Amino acid sequence: MQNRFEYDDPYNNRVENPLEFFAEPFEIKPENRLTVYRYNNDQHTPFVHVNQSKWNYEAKAVRSNSHLGVYGFTNEQVRLGRCDYFFNPFSDGLNCRFSFQFLQLEVDKNNIFHTDDMEVVFTEANFIKVLTLPELKAIFPQYEAMIVAYCIAASNNFQDQFMDKAHREYEAARRMAGIVPSMHNENNEIHGITHGIRVERNGNAICQMLGIDSRVIRPFAYFHDFCRENDGHDPEHGLRAAKHIEKHYDFVKYHFSLSDTEMKLLMFACENHTDMIRSDFEIVNACFDADRLDLPRVGTTPDPNYMATTIGGLYAMALQRQGG
Ligand SMILES: [Fe+2]
Ligand SMILES: [Fe+2]
Repeated sequence: MQNRFEYDDPYNNRVENPLEFFAEPFEIKPENRLTVYRYNNDQHTPFVHVNQSKWNYEAKAVRSNSHLGVYGFTNEQVRLGRCDYFFNPFSDGLNCRFSFQFLQLEVDKNNIFHTDDMEVVFTEANFIKVLTLPELKAIFPQYEAMIVAYCIAASNNFQDQFMDKAHREYEAARRMAGIVPSMHNENNEIHGITHGIRVERNGNAICQMLGIDSRVIRPFAYFHDFCRENDGHDPEHGLRAAKHIEKHYDFVKYHFSLSDTEMKLLMFACENHTDMIRSDFEIVNACFDADRLDLPRVGTTPDPNYMATTIGGLYAMALQRQGG
């Protein structure tokens, strides 16, 4: 039960579309089940770079046979207000005047090989159903006004006056979403998505001050603790992260548009982020400091003497003056 066609990938290779569909669902242990969502532009995902294959709505399961994986997002990523893939169908739908299919999937947590503030990427999943718009409203009640306005515009053939109202609700929802990850909410989590968000923010600030390219920061932020087995003592988690990146080399390189040199620096930064104070590479040092500057979440004030960059040292001194 296959459904393949070809498309151009950014390496300019002709690659076969990787999605393969199955008539029977995969077996997933109840404790490993995670609900994820994605959307299709009626027939297929509107993103040319990933999985732009026709979705088989008769199938019960889907698998990616390439390094690209299958994309989706979780309720948590929507809650954090950073998930473009939740907002895009509404804005794209209005701008391009199409209706979309919101899909509910179920994935085994062990098959997720990348997660960040916007999405999860996995090898395979069970297809549960296409959600109706009332179901969507019930799952994401904070965006109900936006969904209602979109439905009205869609059912009125996207006439201008309904489009305007829907655009306004969409903008309001986006603004509201942007303030969801407030500082005191974030403190609950030690190594999850919000730690990644803060490491990315710290790292980008450091790179800007140092005047260096920050492309390695985002993948570092979301990969360096990805392979942790617990939130406490886990000395090997940096090495495991580096190995994980190596295993998914093509995906990471493509997804984050990195050069081979940047890939090496990323793996080096992940491997050594717990026990090396500073390295010979400024971007790696920026990664180290971005992570260390988030130590106040566990009640530790970073020591300025153990920061890897001058800017990181200054930030740590400021945190010390504030008493952590
Ligand atoms: Fe770590
Ligand atoms: Fe970390």
